Amino acid sequence: MPEQLNPDPTNPVPTNTVPAATTEATGITEPTEITEAGVAAAVNAALVAIAAASDSAALKSVRTSHAGEASVLAKLNGLMRTVPPTEKAAAGKLVGQGRARVTQALTAREGEILEAEAAAQLAAEEVDVTAALSRWQPGARHPLTLLQERVADVFVGMGWEVAEGPELESEWFNFDALNFDEDHPARAMQDTFFIEPTSAHLVLRTHTSPVQLRALLSRELPVYVVAPGRVYRTDELDATHTPVFHQIEGIAVDKGLTMAHLRGTLDHFVKAMFGDEAKVRLRPNYFPFTEPSAELDLWHPTFAGGPRWIEWGGCGMVNANVLRSAGIDPDVYSGFAFGVGVERALMFRNDVKDMHDMVEGDVRFSQQFGMAV
Ligand code: DAH
Repeated sequence: MPEQLNPDPTNPVPTNTVPAATTEATGITEPTEITEAGVAAAVNAALVAIAAASDSAALKSVRTSHAGEASVLAKLNGLMRTVPPTEKAAAGKLVGQGRARVTQALTAREGEILEAEAAAQLAAEEVDVTAALSRWQPGARHPLTLLQERVADVFVGMGWEVAEGPELESEWFNFDALNFDEDHPARAMQDTFFIEPTSAHLVLRTHTSPVQLRALLSRELPVYVVAPGRVYRTDELDATHTPVFHQIEGIAVDKGLTMAHLRGTLDHFVKAMFGDEAKVRLRPNYFPFTEPSAELDLWHPTFAGGPRWIEWGGCGMVNANVLRSAGIDPDVYSGFAFGVGVERALMFRNDVKDMHDMVEGDVRFSQQFGMAV
């Protein structure tokens, strides 16, 4: 029996073959002649190793050891030199077919491995573009701001200008110039935030109406101005009151303006804001700065548990005394004015039931309205 050269004692080389040596790298027997069994064994060994290779690196070393220069198949090919001419064709075919099978198997396996590796890489690098962002939340503009902008847009669409006035206002603009008596109840300490020292006669404006005067004093006639802004009253914060809130004032002064113009403007305004079903009603009322004055009611089929009339603000024809305060001759010019509450509009339009939600600054409240109201 020849010396046992197979390094793997659990898999002894069959005794009927005559192995001469093994190659260091592969442990595969060094061939000495081309036989069908020898070629088949080399091919089978290669196929088994190819099938077992699980990644590109493993396949590369299988390629080197089973199809490279030092492989059994390459050596069998080298033995072609020793084959007698009559057997060359058969031997060449045997070795050539064996090598072709191995090459084919290598190519096929390589394809499978590359595909699997690409899929694994894609899976590892996957980014879920629909995933919710957990670290960064976009903010949201406050619906009160959006509503005021919407109102301004409606009036700008009619050719009006948008104006602003100071929130820290002189008592004269807030009351006197608007024809409030010295002892009008609105001036009472309980309603108005007076600023110390009271001798400075400054207040936190209690309404946006002082912008009427400021608009008239700073512009050439005719004047068509809308003024959204923040106002203050000494109310406790509860579900329906807040000491800081918003109004939108409108004033138009021109030659020949009448209640009909006021009415037509308000009709257009509420339809543009709340849809074509919305209607306006004027109810007689009293305001020092308008004569005649009216309560402005809005009708809507669904708002505030609708269909019903909802009180929204005040309006009227600009009082002659107000025109005079601005140096305008009431015999030549006339005007109309109106003022509405923004929080109130948000309450009935969007069914916000508690004023706290509007002032607490929780972004989740604002986010419900999106970027448009
Ligand atoms: N300024 C009034 C208020 O705060 C609302 C108002 C009523 C404004 C009549 C007007 C108006 O311009 O004409 O309650």
